[in-house]
Amino acid sequence: MSMEQQLERLAQLKQRAALGGGQSRIDRQHAQGKLTARERIALLLDNGSFNELDALAVERGGDDGEALYGDAVVTGWGSVDGRTVYVFAFDFTVFGGSLGAVVADKITKTMDLAVRNGAPLIGLNDSGGARIQEGVGSLGGYGDIFLRNIYASGVVPQISLIMGPCAGGAAYSPALTDFIFMVDGSSQMFITGPDVIASATGETTTADDLGGAMTHAAKSGVAHFAIKGEQTCIEEVRRLLSFLPANNLETPPYVDTGDTVDRRIDDILSVVPEIATMPYDVRDVIERVIDNGDFLEVHAAFAQNIVVGFGRIGGHSVGLVGNQPMYLGGVLDIDASRKAARFVRFCDAFNIPLVTLVDVPGYLPGVSQEWGGIITHGAKLVYAYAEATVPKVTVITRKGYGGAYVAMGSKHLGADVNYAWPAALIAVMDGPSAVRIINRRELNAADDVEATRAKLAADYKERFEHPYIAAAKGYVDDVIDPRDTRIKVARALAMLRNKSQILPARKHGSVPL
Ligand code: HXC
Repeated sequence: MSMEQQLERLAQLKQRAALGGGQSRIDRQHAQGKLTARERIALLLDNGSFNELDALAVERGGDDGEALYGDAVVTGWGSVDGRTVYVFAFDFTVFGGSLGAVVADKITKTMDLAVRNGAPLIGLNDSGGARIQEGVGSLGGYGDIFLRNIYASGVVPQISLIMGPCAGGAAYSPALTDFIFMVDGSSQMFITGPDVIASATGETTTADDLGGAMTHAAKSGVAHFAIKGEQTCIEEVRRLLSFLPANNLETPPYVDTGDTVDRRIDDILSVVPEIATMPYDVRDVIERVIDNGDFLEVHAAFAQNIVVGFGRIGGHSVGLVGNQPMYLGGVLDIDASRKAARFVRFCDAFNIPLVTLVDVPGYLPGVSQEWGGIITHGAKLVYAYAEATVPKVTVITRKGYGGAYVAMGSKHLGADVNYAWPAALIAVMDGPSAVRIINRRELNAADDVEATRAKLAADYKERFEHPYIAAAKGYVDDVIDPRDTRIKVARALAMLRNKSQILPARKHGSVPL
């Protein structure tokens, strides 16, 4: 064959690979409002930066037994904002994006490259799960991927996009990654679908109700983001990457945000009401503290009583955790503890300092919480904060009561710099609750119970409910003017930039999972 013929043959093979399962299936994908694997990769990566691997890996057994070049996944590497990432995108036009040996081999090769070379791994999922015709070979393929997900955990960021149905094994690999983005309206995740559920338990449900984006973003917490439209979803992934380092040995990239750190936040006093029970949106505080108010909230629809997400202070990435008084009074419950604990551990794994804003009435009392294991789940948050060795800066803005005071990045759990605002209420519990317990006899004997209760609560507030006992003991390092919060936090983070803390050697801790 002449070189010309050789090139012609190569072009034909590449052309076949690019067509995946054929034009009619591509048309069907588009008709469902979904993009193809290659179109998605093109949106995710910088223009022209994609280098495909294994486009010519071959699976026999397409229509009429013809060879399927590339099989049901497109893999390779490219860049996002000039930084290398590894990517695999399931091709639903080939056997419904189902996973057999060739698909698994292509994905595991990409994963190995990502870990060996220390760059994020991004999976675009749209898959019918295990390829039924391949039997146990396909189950094994999933196992090979899971193993690598776990070995990569805490080494390189792993991000999953769910852009179509993800059944069975196709749901578990994303579950082992750090962040799950679901396209609202066109993606579902479930272990068993509606038909299997109907025959197993008699429950009737739809695919979307069972495992759609909002179900997982708000109810189960499986998804961190539910975003309408594939393009917007992919843009948010690019934004998330901008806050993250390439791997656990690097620090996140510095970004010149143009926002000075010596900026007072004068209007902060009008954001947080003085009356401790009055709600406000903690995001209004977060957005004033970080550069240009640029906040990427994670898990926004799940456990809304706590807010977590990424921002920058002085151009450096930070992970922010704040109780949300606007929702359930900002109380800590099972879901809030799980959500925040997971976020804190991610930040710690990837060298992202933690800034915590505390305004918490306590852990949520209730039979369902106790039976649901609030003790174990609440302990996760305590564990995560204590284990984190990244710089930790905490500001108590209003309430810091009980066990929740300890859990929320307190000095006792190893926070580096702790501040309180002057109106902070740091105590075992609030005044009315406290006097009910410690002044029961006086209240029982009182002629005017209400007046006595009010007086006792006022005395308690004077004696216990302020930041100065904590300041006297060094549990807060300073009581600060709220308007200086951004300046003080930025200076603390700058002071901590070279922090190095090594915990006692061990195989790993035993997190109360
Ligand atoms: C082989 C599959 C397939 C699969 C779909 N296809 N799923 N081929 N193995 N698992 C093929 C179909 O035959 C069809 O081929 C094409 O993909 C598109 O599928 P449709 O059903 O026409 O598409 P749609 O109506 O959009 O429905 C998509 C779907 C459905 C919801 C994903 O196909 C489905 O329920 N599939 C099975 C899901 C499942 O139970 N998977 C196994 C899970 S168990 P043609 O030729 O017509 O285009 C599992 C265990 C892993 O994953 C455990 C790991 C430890």
